[in-house]
Amino acid sequence: MIETPFWNDFFSLISPENQNEIIEHCMNPSLELPKEEFEWGDECLSEKVHLKLTGFTELLEPYVIQVLSEVIDEGTPYGFSVDEVWKNTYHRYYHQEQHDHQGYELSFVIFMNDYQENDAKFYFVNERTRLTAESWGDVSALMADSLPIEGKKGDIVFFPSHMLHGVSPHQSDNPRITVSGNISITQL
Ligand SMILES: [Fe+2]
Repeated sequence: MIETPFWNDFFSLISPENQNEIIEHCMNPSLELPKEEFEWGDECLSEKVHLKLTGFTELLEPYVIQVLSEVIDEGTPYGFSVDEVWKNTYHRYYHQEQHDHQGYELSFVIFMNDYQENDAKFYFVNERTRLTAESWGDVSALMADSLPIEGKKGDIVFFPSHMLHGVSPHQSDNPRITVSGNISITQL
């Protein structure tokens, strides 16, 4: 049996029981805030709009607790809050360069569409490959440069905010929509 000693990078792909409720909430146009500049994403082609935070902490709470139960020792008191949420719309050729969400602890992406061939694809970047013998990549798929996530409608992927990720170019005329957000975790 092999062990993973350090949890610097991890992710959890969850299919929530109340995914219809979550999707309906995410797509509620009354949550959209007036358009404003984002401080990041200058190198990408994307359409982003901030959403009001109303309801997100409550909707995501059971899944955040589920994910953190595998990372934080049982009995350690902590609190969390959803601090930032925004909606991304990918039209043809839209993409997101590799980036992280430093300044927060946990980030998430909720998929509003089933993944279809030619759609933009969310992927994690394996930063360790530049420090790893090239031949490892040849003999083990686990040492790949990146890991694509093909989410289904309503799925949520959680990951540490420092974890480098990107979105490949969208090669379809059907827009792809995701809702992303950042969560702060504090030890109480
Ligand atoms: Fe991101």
